[in-house]
Amino acid sequence: MEENWLEIDEFAKSSIKEAGQEIIDSFDEVLKIQTKSNVNDLVTNMDKQIEKLFVEKIKDLFPHHRVMGEEGFGDQVTDMEGTVWIIDPIDGTMNFVHQQRNFAISIGVYHEGKGMLGYIYDVVSDDLYHAKKDEGAYLNGEKLSPLKDVPLEEAILSLNATWLVPNKKVNHEVFVPLVHRVRGTRSYGSAAIELAYIAAGRLDGYITMRLAPWDFAGGKVLIEEVGGVVTDLNGSELSMVNHSPVFAGNPSVHREVQKKYLSKL
Ligand code: IPD
Ligand code: CA
Ligand code: CA
Ligand code: CA
Repeated sequence: MEENWLEIDEFAKSSIKEAGQEIIDSFDEVLKIQTKSNVNDLVTNMDKQIEKLFVEKIKDLFPHHRVMGEEGFGDQVTDMEGTVWIIDPIDGTMNFVHQQRNFAISIGVYHEGKGMLGYIYDVVSDDLYHAKKDEGAYLNGEKLSPLKDVPLEEAILSLNATWLVPNKKVNHEVFVPLVHRVRGTRSYGSAAIELAYIAAGRLDGYITMRLAPWDFAGGKVLIEEVGGVVTDLNGSELSMVNHSPVFAGNPSVHREVQKKYLSKL
């Protein structure tokens, strides 16, 4: 089916702004907080409310589209046929609960497996990043520049400090010389914001051990539109229907870190 991408884009942007306002309005109310897979894996009534809002609106306007959402109000999506919205209603729920900042709404719209539209809305900063396939990436309507090569010595990498201490899952020692070599490291606690920062050139790489498609679907479209690379830790294409470790970065940083460091994990 032919899609009207202009209409979908305008609908997505206005729904995202509306959802953002609902989240801001909720700041004065008491949150209902529950836990999911473990005591630190939080979900709130707002995560659910915002996902429901998107699912209802999309189903109303585009009944043939499918929705994959973190909180499960969309469809059971196991393939990427047709048009699929991949939605994280609040990425960075822990930040949302503890800090009321540094969280984002993240959306990717895919068609036959290709990322067509990507959105990351940093709600409290009121920064909307968006990208359209082959038309570039934008921050609040201003076109983002293509990413430039950066020597590793001048790169800022985002990674979670948990992986730098001895653990059962990865050979943490691989990260020690990498962390020594780069200019600095950061950890913002929202995959979507970290990916948006790569697209905007504020970060040069982001390495993380386990993300779901809704964490990276929007960011992948954004980063690829400015010439960046988003893969798993081996440099292979990501699956849009499974969890995966993710390594995103500007092309030179991605190439060198993958070859000299991550290949030894
Ligand atoms: C989480 C955040 C976090 C990342 C986790 C994600 P959520 O998403 O993106 O930065 O480290 O892996 O699950 O649960 O807050 O939407
Ligand atoms: Ca979550
Ligand atoms: Ca998330
Ligand atoms: Ca979430």
